Amino acid sequence: MSHYVVTGGAGFIGSALVGALLAEGAGRVVVIDNLLTGKEENLEEVRKRIEFHRTDIRCYDEVLPLVRGADVVFHLAAIPSVPRSIAEPELTHDVNVNGTFQVFRACRDGGVRRVVYAASSSAYGDTDTLPKTETMPPRPLSPYAVQKLVGEYYASVFCTCLGLETVSIRYFNVYGPRQDPSSPYSGVISVFMKALIERRPPTIFGDGEQSRDFTYVEDVAALTLKAARASGVCGKVYNGGNGGRYSLNQVWALLQRLEGIELPARYGPPRPGDVRHSQADTTAAVRDLGHAPRFTLEEGLRRTLEWYKRSLVRNRA
Ligand code: UD1
Repeated sequence: MSHYVVTGGAGFIGSALVGALLAEGAGRVVVIDNLLTGKEENLEEVRKRIEFHRTDIRCYDEVLPLVRGADVVFHLAAIPSVPRSIAEPELTHDVNVNGTFQVFRACRDGGVRRVVYAASSSAYGDTDTLPKTETMPPRPLSPYAVQKLVGEYYASVFCTCLGLETVSIRYFNVYGPRQDPSSPYSGVISVFMKALIERRPPTIFGDGEQSRDFTYVEDVAALTLKAARASGVCGKVYNGGNGGRYSLNQVWALLQRLEGIELPARYGPPRPGDVRHSQADTTAAVRDLGHAPRFTLEEGLRRTLEWYKRSLVRNRA
């Protein structure tokens, strides 16, 4: 029987990954989450088919028995926010760096076959050219970017020196159903969705010409599963993006068109630590992992908008 563990499995991307694992017939799926940013309701539909443990990844002694003997551990647990890492550098360092170290250590000691680590496109910072390829030197611009990059470096040396098979996927601005729009640190698409539905103008930080490779959560989950199976990838890092690039102004314009309304955005000061442009070169992920993103931004936004509308109705009922 296949045995999988998803750290951060009650989070937005983690719960999509749990759904994808179950959809392809996974045997035992163990979720580790301390519910700091994750929510049990994200696992509502699959609750009876998984094991849920409210455990903090920094607690090696608690993590070890949960990962022991697993085929694959997907390490997604993190505090995933550039501005939060600036507001709370100590806490985010502790979770994102120390927590990641403890997970890798427990996986090594527990004889886990492979770890797939959720790295971040923020590691690149501002590069001279686009798209961003894995061979470019990292230039982290925020504590969050440093923290996720340290995790990659650890993944790599656990592979080369400590006998643990790992592979890192740099996620590029993931969006989709279940992304929580309610915190000041929420991802921009979730914030835009909430504003659109409530007919309020969103605030865009800066001129809105900064761009991102927005990637639909199902595509990211599918790629993450492929990374668990690919051969010859030990210790490597791959871009997990869609390959496109849209400015925030373009995204807000597209959302207004989808909803058939006109609602000009407000503009505020640029956000410290912000990367200007982000776009993945997906060549290596396509070649080595079989990455094949299916969702255009328009299709992904349509699906996401439908989900937010449905969940809003559900929450009102
Ligand atoms: C960064 C990483 C991403 C990582 C994510 C975790 C880059 C390129 N991307 O995303 O890989 O997974 O952190 O959170 O570094 N914005 C607004 N108005 C808002 C909210 C955000 O204008 O209300 C702007 C931000 O200033 C930024 C863009 O939208 O320019 C995207 O912000 P956000 O969704 O928080 O993600 P990143 O910081 O780009």
